[in-house]
Amino acid sequence: MMTEVIAVKEIPQFKTRTEEFSPYDWCKKMLENDSVIYHEGTDTWNAFKYDHVKLVLSDYKHFSSVRKRTTISVGADSKEGAIPDKINLIGVDPPSHRKHRSLLAAAFTPRSLQNWEPRIQEIVNELIEDIGDSEMDIVHSLTSPLPIIIMSDLLGVPSKDRLLFKKWVDILFLPFEKEKEEEVNKKKQIAAKEYYEYIYPIVLEKRLNPADDIISDLLKAEVDGETFTDDEVVRTTMLILGAGVETTSHLLANSFYSLLYDDPTVYEELHQNPELVPQAVEEMLRYRFNLVKLDRTVKEDNNLLGVELKKGDVVIVWMSAANLDEAMFEDPFTVNIHRPNNKKHLTFGNGVHFCLGAPLARLEAKIALTTFVKKYARIEPVESFTLEDRLTDAATGQALMSLPMKRYKA
Ligand code: HEM
Repeated sequence: MMTEVIAVKEIPQFKTRTEEFSPYDWCKKMLENDSVIYHEGTDTWNAFKYDHVKLVLSDYKHFSSVRKRTTISVGADSKEGAIPDKINLIGVDPPSHRKHRSLLAAAFTPRSLQNWEPRIQEIVNELIEDIGDSEMDIVHSLTSPLPIIIMSDLLGVPSKDRLLFKKWVDILFLPFEKEKEEEVNKKKQIAAKEYYEYIYPIVLEKRLNPADDIISDLLKAEVDGETFTDDEVVRTTMLILGAGVETTSHLLANSFYSLLYDDPTVYEELHQNPELVPQAVEEMLRYRFNLVKLDRTVKEDNNLLGVELKKGDVVIVWMSAANLDEAMFEDPFTVNIHRPNNKKHLTFGNGVHFCLGAPLARLEAKIALTTFVKKYARIEPVESFTLEDRLTDAATGQALMSLPMKRYKA
């Protein structure tokens, strides 16, 4: 049985894609409410304020990740697409969450990250090297292929098959659409089957000949005597791809959008001082990750958010709004890479479920942007660009399908 997916789009009801891509007016309006808001159509409570969002994300005793209804629509409702209990991280609470997370964390240690850095740098160099001289589309050339190539390389998949991954991942993580639910589910099931059949023999081979990659690390992982089976490793790779590809592409593409359109002076500053890139990445995560939200189910009746919440109620927390709460961030509606607390954004969540891949996403973004700003002195928008036509629905909100721009060598 698949969990019921909440048609979350009905809540803000944006009229255009552009409005959803830059949902600042809506977030501002929602933040003006002191409390959480009940939305009848979806039967959900909605929280926007920084303190509320943080509390719901971290207080698993009152707000559970075990749900019957959710805003998350990923994977496929089929034999190959299912996530077995042992690797289900996002849908469990402590204490079982600890064990599940530790098993997966075996592949995401600081040491792994150190080893991955040169590999990521090499892939970034390769892609940026390939960018021609005339007008370019940064989504096509860099932000869309980079995370998928990195993930397939880190998983240990032959490089010739990198782009096959993209095809499957694009389908597996198509966003929820009420009218097309059945059609999309069918497509996802086919992609899950093809993916499963492709990766399973690779896992078997790595069981015999381990290498320096995530699949081999997962095969070795052991917590309290528990290990992963081959089948679980296959499904775990699916989970990693689902969690880590589109999200990172989105961060990169939106960062370039912001550098072009939100405040063009930032690019010049980064070019002069590439060491500021990590700060800029945090500000992009705060300001430009447009519509991030998560949901939790009320575990025990409480009024922690100032309203009577009943066991079983669904609370949606809008991290995008929390990231714009002036009680936390001064002058929140401007891009400021020097903001002293911009790392306090909630885009990676909070508490026990805090994004396991955050260090990797940050590293990818740091390497990609640093390499780019060092190589190009200037970037400029192209006149013909119309945002509305370049956006598409994605799990992360509205995603850029292309972003043409001009750039000039240093
Ligand atoms: C910009 C990029 C990313 C963003 C914004 C992001 C966001 C998030 C958020 C908000 C959560 C918390 C979910 C919850 O509380 O229910 C999460 C969890 C998770 N993320 Fe990420 N993520 C990103 C990249 C990645 C990458 C690159 C990976 C792995 C390669 C990854 C793997 C995971 C995993 C495994 C979890 C589940 C952790 C748990 O439940 O304990 N993420 N992510």
